Amino acid sequence: MLETSVGKLRLERPGMVASGIMDETGQSMIRMLSSGAGAVVTKSIGSRPNPGHPNPTFTELKGGYINAMGLPNPGIELFGEEMAVAVKSGNIIGSIYGSSPEEFSTLAGKMEEYGAAAVELNLSCPHAKGYGIELGTDPAIVKAVVSAVKSSVSIPVWTKLTPNTHLIKNLASAVQEAGGDAVVAINTVKAMVISPQFGKPILSNKFGGLSGPAIRSIGVRAVFDIRTAVDIPIVGVGGISDWKDAAQYMMAGASAFQIGSAIGTKGIEVFENINRDLERFMKDYGYGSISDMVGVAHE
Ligand code: DHB
Repeated sequence: MLETSVGKLRLERPGMVASGIMDETGQSMIRMLSSGAGAVVTKSIGSRPNPGHPNPTFTELKGGYINAMGLPNPGIELFGEEMAVAVKSGNIIGSIYGSSPEEFSTLAGKMEEYGAAAVELNLSCPHAKGYGIELGTDPAIVKAVVSAVKSSVSIPVWTKLTPNTHLIKNLASAVQEAGGDAVVAINTVKAMVISPQFGKPILSNKFGGLSGPAIRSIGVRAVFDIRTAVDIPIVGVGGISDWKDAAQYMMAGASAFQIGSAIGTKGIEVFENINRDLERFMKDYGYGSISDMVGVAHE
């Protein structure tokens, strides 16, 4: 009942682990696949090892988390070891970041070689200079990156978009025009927390990305808007922690969804709980499959 597909990629369960949590090692990815996730998106990986920002990089607040990790990762060469462990157990989506179409293409080629089921282009980190939203808010650049990656790999190419723009529909259209296989929406919302006692921002980077329940209705609105602009599949993400949140995203137009912060607040059982509750809701309300629910809020 819960099976769905994102273009050519078939998933037995609609919930995936979002990039950035429990997805840095082969073993943590296996653990998430066996906890009821239909796929795991890796931490975003770049060309070279990156230590990330100095602490503090993370803080919890009412309604969510704010973080500016600074894209810490071991680099694409070393990450091959983690991929080799994880891909045997299920669908691993390789998240990558770069600063040019060529760099994204090379990274995507490596992820394909490692056995990724798809790649997810992180064009939307809210604070990385020269990477995330600096590339990801310009439809022409988005189109150039997606086109380049599409011509270098044969696995599906997904593009994760930023909500830090009024042009999200134009960004999604650029992805579709470039032949992109799916849009993932949304990445975190650029935000800030100041300590009154210290009189300065808490994060060493000053700004970070807000995630969790506080951004859910921004994400649902973004998916709804994107659905009116493109026909390619949408993966919904942002503040999902129970079946009602997941159903909202699918009714707005998403064929599948991702969970990040709620793995921290609710534990890895969040996937089993949503799978069980969603199935019960679907039976009670006469939805025979996930695809019956997708986009109903537009009708
Ligand atoms: C980071 C990357 C992101 O894409 C995001 O949304 C938040 C934080 C990071 O690693 O700093």
